[in-house]
Amino acid sequence: MRVLVIGRGGREHAIVWALKKSPRVKDLYCAPGNAGIAETAECVPIGENRFEEIARFVRDASIDLVVVGPEDPLFGGIADYLEERGIAVFGPRRAAAEIEGSKVFAKHLMKKYGIPTAAYETFESYEEAHAYLHRQRVPIVVKADGLAAGKGVTVAWTMEQAERALKDIMVDRVFGDAGAKVVIEEFLQGQEMSILSFVDGAVVRPMVPAQDHKPVFDNDEGPNTGGMGTYSPVPHIPESVVEEAVRTIIRPAAEALVKEGRPFRGVLFTGLMITDEGPKAIEFNCRFGDPETQVVLPRLETDLADIMLAVVNGRLGEMEITWKKEAAVCVVLASGGYPGSYRKGLPIRGLDRVGRSIVFHAGTALENGEIVTNGGRVLGVTALGTTLEEAREAAYEDVARIDFEGKHFRTDISLKALKALRQ
Ligand code: AMP
Ligand code: GLY
Repeated sequence: MRVLVIGRGGREHAIVWALKKSPRVKDLYCAPGNAGIAETAECVPIGENRFEEIARFVRDASIDLVVVGPEDPLFGGIADYLEERGIAVFGPRRAAAEIEGSKVFAKHLMKKYGIPTAAYETFESYEEAHAYLHRQRVPIVVKADGLAAGKGVTVAWTMEQAERALKDIMVDRVFGDAGAKVVIEEFLQGQEMSILSFVDGAVVRPMVPAQDHKPVFDNDEGPNTGGMGTYSPVPHIPESVVEEAVRTIIRPAAEALVKEGRPFRGVLFTGLMITDEGPKAIEFNCRFGDPETQVVLPRLETDLADIMLAVVNGRLGEMEITWKKEAAVCVVLASGGYPGSYRKGLPIRGLDRVGRSIVFHAGTALENGEIVTNGGRVLGVTALGTTLEEAREAAYEDVARIDFEGKHFRTDISLKALKALRQ
């Protein structure tokens, strides 16, 4: 089988890494990829949103399956575009991708089908949103409706912060049209957890859970990023809570999309808050998480290509999916300054000295034969271990071996779980 993966980040590197292990996959391509992906797949210089060029490449290279990594092309309708041309795609059509592409849509869907989530109101008028905001108390959460590269959400601790967020979104339009509508919602307290699920219509196969670390500094301080590290399993959250989340949130969401005539095919990412009242949905994404994928796929025992084909062919219900007992920890190495401005093109050293970790490239490029930084998140260093503690130690050993100017990472990835377990 010949497979094309769309995307250029750590998530796509993890997908390529997992597909490479499949005896089914003969040729592996990635558009556009990065310097790390290029060691495993043939990278083709086509951007994620260039549907016509992608379709042409698929025909010329006789690709059998296209796997879409990021949300942008999915919400832009890449699955519809390719499927209309007879091309097999792993990833949802636009109508189903709306569960990520519009937070207003996702919230209304949850309300209609009784899926536990934060109480909320939606607005299309700044004046009405502003008036409503002033009748609320902080902390409160303000969210741009559309795609905003993970930056459209503000957890406001003061009314000034909430007002600023609302003005940024609706008046100054810092996220463009994504800010035409806004969601203002109740602040939820608890532990966060991500569950990625393979979904084929109403058939849901949850993957092992993971926990992300969004703020840029240790102890969850500083601004939010795309994710500074992850671990899996999440041992301090009981299996019964995971099952409750699948039963009350994830399965009902997949079934709701079927009932709405928008069946979901691909990976549904559910961001959860484990509150005193049980798990509640924070958000849905229409694709694998980044960097959740970097700890989840290394724990997958079953052939990923088999699972993807089952989803594409409507046979996911027949698949048995198994997972390794081992734990995984991923530490992200970021560029100094991220998530603000940062430099690119800085040489990365020590990649050849890495021990047992898998180094997933997120933002790297090849310049004159040298691997250099090319993004905010640069690398994701993932290690497996018999225990979370062992995985954590192994990952940090390799983190210390890699260097580039301004290298920044959190030193406390997975500590939350280890502390909770010790108590
Ligand atoms: P999102 O982009 O929707 O995942 O939101 C980014 C982050 O904001 C989440 O990972 C949470 O940490 C936080 N967040 C979003 N919604 C809420 C909420 N209702 N209550 C508390 N925190 C939230
Ligand atoms: N790690 C969060 C996300 O992929 O959206």
